[in-house]
Amino acid sequence: MLSESLLQWVDLNQPSLYWAVASIAFNPIFWTIAARSEYNHKAITKLAGGNRLYGCYLLAISIFSLGIVRDFIYKTALEHQPVHPLLAYGEVKLLGALLVLVGNVLVLSSMYALGVTGTYLGDYFGILMDERVTGFPFNVTDNPMYNGSTMVFLGTALWYGSLTGVLLTIHVLIAYTLVLKFEEPFTAKIYAEREESSKTK
Ligand SMILES: *[C@@H]1O[C@H](CO)[C@@H](O)[C@H](O)[C@H]1NC(C)=O
Ligand SMILES: *[C@@H]1O[C@H](CO)[C@@H](O)[C@H](O)[C@H]1NC(C)=O
Repeated sequence: MLSESLLQWVDLNQPSLYWAVASIAFNPIFWTIAARSEYNHKAITKLAGGNRLYGCYLLAISIFSLGIVRDFIYKTALEHQPVHPLLAYGEVKLLGALLVLVGNVLVLSSMYALGVTGTYLGDYFGILMDERVTGFPFNVTDNPMYNGSTMVFLGTALWYGSLTGVLLTIHVLIAYTLVLKFEEPFTAKIYAEREESSKTK
């Protein structure tokens, strides 16, 4: 059976695998809930002594640190997984390195274009961008940060020749797609509200 032969390359006995599944799901859930509680209750701003800019920095540091922890867990998990023979070729490794490179260019260039508050959900704090960023990398894809991050996950999986890593990347893709379903209409709403209030001024 196909699923059986595939599962042969997923070592379910490694606790690190479950940590990876959990941390991949946890991060977007954390920042969605944190951003919502900021928008609804100013929870993080209060935590930062009433300064919303500091609040946003606090969230930025938390999300960034959680990302580093998650990446470390992911890598550790892949090291514990078997190498799939079809992924064991040098070409696959090269493709993996390329994906990591391109993915990081997308992530870092969008951070550069958006700045700290634009990257880390500043709009939920009432810190809005003056205008929509349309230059690179936003002229390549609508969600360069998510697309880039997904590419880094896939690239790392290929680098390790890990089928488990490819499956975990699908998990990442699902988590990001779900979180975008919450984020995109919310961001659109916040900017539409500003549009409204600037009209009535
Ligand atoms: C995106 O913008 C950059 C410069 O900002 C440009 O070099 C590049 O060709 C553009 N890409 C697309 C697909 O339009
Ligand atoms: C990646 O990019 C495509 C095309 O722009 C988009 O449809 C998809 O939702 C994006 N999301 C993620 C998480 O990669």
